[in-house]
Amino acid sequence: MLSQQELKQQAADAALAFVAEVAAPDAVIGVGTGSTADLFIDGLAAYKDRILGTVASSERSAARLAGHGIRVLDLNDVAWMPIYVDGADEIDDHLHMIKGGGGALTREKIVASVAERFICIADESKLVAELGAFPLPIEVIPMAREAVARALRLLGGQPRLREDFVTDNGNVILDVHGMRIAEPQGLEKVVNDLPGVVTCGLFALHGADVALLATQAGVRRLD
Ligand code: 5RP
Repeated sequence: MLSQQELKQQAADAALAFVAEVAAPDAVIGVGTGSTADLFIDGLAAYKDRILGTVASSERSAARLAGHGIRVLDLNDVAWMPIYVDGADEIDDHLHMIKGGGGALTREKIVASVAERFICIADESKLVAELGAFPLPIEVIPMAREAVARALRLLGGQPRLREDFVTDNGNVILDVHGMRIAEPQGLEKVVNDLPGVVTCGLFALHGADVALLATQAGVRRLD
């Protein structure tokens, strides 16, 4: 029986096959945040001389990349990003996701938006029939915290301020419990439209292109 850590390692290793496929002197790899992304970063070190560099979705990932001697670029200087590789807190079979358990959702969404393909890496426990058991993270500008929280209650959720946490962008996170997410794309638009919301952790309007889900029987690929 493989542990969850070993499953994450398998998913991260599987993503390296995509890196091998796209590696080129001008290729930039988008890199996500979290424990699964950390394992991907460790494996990416072997490719550092075959790519131009990376763009990180968080200060945490940037530091880990730099620790391996992997070049970290400013997104503004990047012309071509064939893939973005990141984990997820939940993913459904439409490849819609909840992300942001690590609080990096906004930069993750920005970097992913530039990449040609989003490769999601996770262990199979992240695959769900309907999103929403995992509290939905929402990055909010601090002065709007209570106004956004009231609006989220009207939408049926129970927002809780993530304690002692400030995002890399200087904002706060509301984790919304108990929200029914029957239509992820519609809800993503509604929440993102609330004044003061930077972005919500629903990645449904632009979900993953490929999911590599590690199971006890090997890595299952969903497209
Ligand atoms: C961070 C994220 C992560 O991708 C998500 O939380 C999954 O993390 P892990 O790989 O540690 O389970 O969205 O903001």
